[in-house]
Amino acid sequence: MFDLIIRKANLPDGRKNIDIAIRDGQIVEVGAAIKAQAVSEIDAQGCLTSPPFVDSHFHMDATLSLGQPRINQSGTLLEGIALWSELKPDLTVEAIKERALALCRWSIARGTLAIRSHVDICDDRLLAVDALLEVRKQMRPYIDLQLVAFPQDGYLRDPSAKKNLQRALDKGVDVVGGIPHFERTMDEGRQSIRQLCEIAAQRGLRVDMHCDESDDPLSRHVETLAFETRRLALNGYVTGSHLTSMHSMDNYYVSKLLPLMRDADLHVVANPLINIVLQARHDHYPKRRGMTRVPELLEAGINVAFGHDCVMDPWYSLGSHDMLDVAHMGLHIAQMTGVDQIKQAFTAVTTNGANVMGLDNYGLEPGCNADIVILQAGSSIDALRLRPTRLYVIRRGQIIAQTPKTTTQLQLDGKESDVQFTCDLF
Ligand code: FE2
Repeated sequence: MFDLIIRKANLPDGRKNIDIAIRDGQIVEVGAAIKAQAVSEIDAQGCLTSPPFVDSHFHMDATLSLGQPRINQSGTLLEGIALWSELKPDLTVEAIKERALALCRWSIARGTLAIRSHVDICDDRLLAVDALLEVRKQMRPYIDLQLVAFPQDGYLRDPSAKKNLQRALDKGVDVVGGIPHFERTMDEGRQSIRQLCEIAAQRGLRVDMHCDESDDPLSRHVETLAFETRRLALNGYVTGSHLTSMHSMDNYYVSKLLPLMRDADLHVVANPLINIVLQARHDHYPKRRGMTRVPELLEAGINVAFGHDCVMDPWYSLGSHDMLDVAHMGLHIAQMTGVDQIKQAFTAVTTNGANVMGLDNYGLEPGCNADIVILQAGSSIDALRLRPTRLYVIRRGQIIAQTPKTTTQLQLDGKESDVQFTCDLF
């Protein structure tokens, strides 16, 4: 006897009409027509049934602060950073918590049950750290929330960042962050990477740096990140986020860089929605796209995930924390429209994000956590095309969000008919 069986599910890997049996919050059996009973059953009716979406790069301390104290008029990264500095003195633990919890409710409704959030530690009060540690605890039954100690104003450039970063880690922040391209010089950027990776190695923590979020083709801090990762035997524990300068780098240099990144088992997180609007702001025409070289990184055997980065904050006014929006934008920017590439874009907001975060028991195999989202689409490709309704969101075998199927009725020539957007091709 199982707690729950999901029947006739289509899986992201293309398997169709599969049953998933769940007991005690775990997936126990996956196969065709499981002959057993359960306390409850869901008939997925051939809908895509996936492990939950993973947002491996987000800023939960700033989210939903749009308009406070004013809107970013230029839409640029630098005005966003200035605006965030204007807002910081007025922040309270309660206000940050309230906004973050509201965002978590949106995430759950969209089927995103794992989030890595950077948290700015360049504020001696560490209000955002305290607020998000409480949010992490409060949301633990529903969302795997990982926090990154992020020195927004520069680890060496900000006078109290060194001390505050250690304080944040002492309080229980999970991951060591950084922003080498924002330090005063290239050399200080290199030093910051070395020092931050050493802290991670000493404490046994992962690293995730905002790295080379620039259109400067000579911003090459990712090379140092790969070097320090190997030197300190942090392989598989280090992520380079953004890496937008790679878009503009010399092609010969990139041919040397990719194997170095692969040798260090670096993870990469691109943030398509934000990269396409914040990068290339100094360009006239032609304008660069700014996102890092996703297909080439994947081709080199490097784990690449897509993050949302921002929702309604000083840097980005739009978004509802839907990872399908992110993947949809990412595959367009990178021209990943081959069938296998569209599937890779879906993986970038599911499995690859879980790899970045090092999540245990993620997936749809026996022994995995019964964390599942069922979408009103037949395949991962259709999910990206339609960005459809999340019919069920399941956490440890319990339904935590449910939305009825959406249908639209046409009334043409005096007759009523349903519109079906679905496609059986994939
Ligand atoms: Fe970011």
